[in-house]
Amino acid sequence: MAAPLPLVFLLMIHGVCSQWGGWGVSYSPSHICALKDSTVIMRCTYTYPTGYQIMKVFWTKTLVIDHGEFPDLSNDPEYSQRLQYLGDKQQNCTVRLSHVTLKDSHMYYFRFITDKDKWTGYPGVTLNVTDLQVESPERVTEGDSVSLTCKSSCALTDRATFIWYRNSQPLTERRDRNNELLLQSVRREDSGRYSCAVDGHTHVSPDVQLNVMYSPRSVSVSISPSGVIVEGDSVTLNCISDSNPPAEIRWFKGGTIVGSGRIFNISKISSEDSGEYKCKSINKHGEKYSDAVTLNVMYPPRSVSVSIIQSGQIWLGDSVTLNCTSDSNPPALNFSWFKENETSAVGSGQSFSALQSGRFYCQAHNQHGSQRSDAVTVTVGRTAGWLVWLGITVACVGIFIIIIIVLYKIQKKRINCRSAIHEYENDPRTDPSEGTYTSLELNTRSSDLYNTLTTVQPRPAVHQSGSSEYENVSPHSNTPR
Ligand SMILES: *[C@@H]1O[C@H](CO)[C@@H](O)[C@H](O)[C@H]1NC(C)=O
Ligand SMILES: *[C@@H]1O[C@H](CO)[C@@H](O)[C@H](O)[C@H]1NC(C)=O
Repeated sequence: MAAPLPLVFLLMIHGVCSQWGGWGVSYSPSHICALKDSTVIMRCTYTYPTGYQIMKVFWTKTLVIDHGEFPDLSNDPEYSQRLQYLGDKQQNCTVRLSHVTLKDSHMYYFRFITDKDKWTGYPGVTLNVTDLQVESPERVTEGDSVSLTCKSSCALTDRATFIWYRNSQPLTERRDRNNELLLQSVRREDSGRYSCAVDGHTHVSPDVQLNVMYSPRSVSVSISPSGVIVEGDSVTLNCISDSNPPAEIRWFKGGTIVGSGRIFNISKISSEDSGEYKCKSINKHGEKYSDAVTLNVMYPPRSVSVSIIQSGQIWLGDSVTLNCTSDSNPPALNFSWFKENETSAVGSGQSFSALQSGRFYCQAHNQHGSQRSDAVTVTVGRTAGWLVWLGITVACVGIFIIIIIVLYKIQKKRINCRSAIHEYENDPRTDPSEGTYTSLELNTRSSDLYNTLTTVQPRPAVHQSGSSEYENVSPHSNTPR
């Protein structure tokens, strides 16, 4: 059914010479760029020599003869509902096409048939239908200057005012310039789905995600479960940080790295896990520490032991004081004392005075449990007391005897001294420069004795000239002689 090639060629010749002996069709404009879904008016006028009568006018997009004629667009089911001829049968061939789609992009021709001849306005009017696409940089960093463009595949014929949407909400601040949206110093809040449209048209571009990168923002670590943590519990720490791209998380206990990942799980917590924890969020734009959280792991008493306090009372044998120590969190406040193989407690409190011998142990309690110590053997009572008293008595008697002996010896020495002085007084040849003189005690000198000594004194210089003692009595000496 295709038209023979020479006929098509002939029609093309006709088209090139659109004014030919009074025959002609002109389209104004000859190129139309229309937005998808809009209504397009293709303005058109035609002329023909006088004396001809118009039999039929129609628009076609196919210069291929079918059933003896080019196909009439108004018979095409894809167009029939949308096409409206606004012209007449004299000179106006304007047509309107509504709800244009991308598939409508084509060249369209006006053709008219007179009683004697036929004419096609070639080349026709070119219709380009475009949709809108937002063009945006894929990744931008906070503080960058960003421009989004609302792109169409051809320059829209109608003057267009662009409208922008973020997350389907129209942007009230008008920061657009032609088909560009300028975001000076982009903020993290500018992240979102952007789309654009043209004022007065229903077509809206597909959304484009603008991804604003930023370094990790503040706050925080959450502990699950919240509340009291007891040894053996499973505890989960969750690092909540806001950043783009998502941050890499490291966990610190004190200054030491203990884990990584948003969630840090301690499956069977022990008291050694107590301490201050914080997380550090790192992305390529920066890093940030969270505030520290404290894990305080509670545990029942352990390492319970009894120590014997060496109080003075022990030596008297009346009682022995025992002290119970334990390691627990919170510290144990309740202690019970038991005598081995007896069911009921014999005392309470951290220390306990044992008044009788036996094997004793203590039991420490806190709200998380209790534990008992090993038993210690305590020996109290008279037997022990007697031994102590006996020891003290023996020691006292020994000391007493020693004192008596010492006193006796001193007394004896005194008697010897007295007899020596007596001998001296009775011997005139006695030389006072010899040891005896210096050994005299002042309180033993009677005035008589002193006089005796004075009269004897000058003698050494005469009696012992030339001896070393002479030099001691030099003329410069202040010693009275
Ligand atoms: C042709 O008809 C259209 C629609 O009625 C009108 O807008 C246009 O002005 C007419 N053109 C001329 C040249 O008369
Ligand atoms: C307590 O009982 C145990 C076991 O019945 C026994 O071996 C131990 O000697 C007893 N201790 C005292 C102090 O009676």
